[in-house]
Amino acid sequence: MRHGSHLTMDNAARGSPRLARFVDAPVLKPRPRVVLSVVGARPNFMKLAPLAHALAARAAVRHVVVHTGQHYDPEMSDAFFHELGLPRPTANLDVGSGSHAQQTAAIMQRFEPVLLDVRPDLVLVYGDVNSTVAAALVATKLGVPVGHVEAGLRSRDWSMPEEINRVVTDRLSGLLFAPSRDAVENLRAEGVPLGRIHFVGNIMIDSLVAMLPEARRRNGRARYGVAERDYALVTLHRPSNVDDPATLRAVLAALDDLGAEHPVLFPVHPRTQARIGALDWAPRHAGLRRLEPIPYLEMLGLTLGAGLVITDSGGVQEETTYLGVPCLTVRLNTERPITCTHGTNRLVAPAREAIVTAARERWGYHAGRACAIERWDGHTAERVAGVMCDGARFD
Ligand code: UD1
Repeated sequence: MRHGSHLTMDNAARGSPRLARFVDAPVLKPRPRVVLSVVGARPNFMKLAPLAHALAARAAVRHVVVHTGQHYDPEMSDAFFHELGLPRPTANLDVGSGSHAQQTAAIMQRFEPVLLDVRPDLVLVYGDVNSTVAAALVATKLGVPVGHVEAGLRSRDWSMPEEINRVVTDRLSGLLFAPSRDAVENLRAEGVPLGRIHFVGNIMIDSLVAMLPEARRRNGRARYGVAERDYALVTLHRPSNVDDPATLRAVLAALDDLGAEHPVLFPVHPRTQARIGALDWAPRHAGLRRLEPIPYLEMLGLTLGAGLVITDSGGVQEETTYLGVPCLTVRLNTERPITCTHGTNRLVAPAREAIVTAARERWGYHAGRACAIERWDGHTAERVAGVMCDGARFD
C-alpha cells in the first residue's frame, strides 16, 4: 500500500480507513533541562536578554546561547551583549554576510553539529531574521521542539524577506509566544491549534523597561548637543528603502529637507552606508548628521528626547509606541499594526514630499500618556519561562 505523506505509519500499516493524526511540529516535553537559544542579528539581542535573565534564575534549566554571526561588527553585536548583561555565547557560527540563500544555508550547516552536540530539549528562536528561520528548520528536522518568541506578526507582504521567515518559523514551531492579540488572531486564522499559542506580551519591552532608568541617567542627547524635542532621530535599513537607488535618493532628499528645519540624527546601518556610498550623495544641509550605528542605551536615550522618529525598523515602531514618541515608519505596511491603532506610529510612503509633509504634521505629537497595550509591561520573559518550565498558560 502506498502511504500518503500525511498518514502516520501505524494507521497506514493497519490499513485504517480513518484519516490519521496529522504529524506536526514536535511538542515540548514538560520541564526542559536544556534550552538552546539562537540569535544572530541586532534586534534578536534585546529579545534574548530578558529571557536569559529569567532562565538564569531557574537552577533546573541550563540555557545555552548560540550566536550565528549574522551580525558581526562590534557595534552591531558585542556592544549589545555588553550593555544587556548577556553572557558570551557558547558557540559563534561566524556565518557573516551573504545572499539570503548563502546566509541561511551557512547557518543551517554550522548549527546542525552544535545542536547534535548540545542535544537540548527545546530550541528558542527570536523575531524574523534569517538566523531565526534557519535554526528552526534545523531543529525541526532533527525532531527538536522549537519555541518562537515574537510569533504571529504578519505584514502580508510576501516581498519582505522577514515575512517569509515569520510564516515558516511559526509553521515549524510547537510553542508560539505572541506579543499582541492581533498576532494571536493571525495564528488562529492560519489554523494553528490554540494550545500552542501563548499570549505572553512583547519581550522587547522587557528590555526597554529594565534599561530605561540607565538610559535617562546617561542623557544621550548631551553628546550631540541637541535640545529635547528639537531633533529627529532616523534609522533606515530595509531593502525596500535602501536597495533601489531612486527610492534611497528620495528618502535621503526628504531627510535633507528636514535637516534645514531641525537637527536630524541618522545612525547609519552598514547596509545603508554601503548603498549611500554607491550613490555618491552628500547632504545640502548641516542639520542632517550621519552617525555610526549606536548602542542600545544611547539609542533609547535619543528616542526618549526626540521630537520625531523616522524609521523602517520593527522594534523602533514598538519602542516609540511604548514611550509615546511620534514615529513615522517609511513603509507601505507593517506587521505591527497595533503601533498605529494603539500607539504613536504612522506609515508613510518612501517619497520625498510624503515624508516631509508627514514629518511636519507629526512633529512633537507626543502621546502624553503611558502605553496601555496589553502585556507590554516588562514581564513577558517571566511568562515565557513559566510556559516552558511550569506548564503555565497565557490565553
Ligand atoms: C537584518 C535582518 C532584518 C533586521 C536587521 C536589523 C534578515 C533577512 N534581515 O537585516 O530583519 O531588521 O538585520 O539590523 O535577517 N553588515 C555589516 N556588519 C554587520 C552586519 C551586516 O557590515 O555586522 C552589512 C553587510 O554588508 C551585509 C549587510 O550589512 O551584507 C546586511 O546585513 P544582513 O544581516 O544580511 O541584513 P540586515 O540588512 O542587517
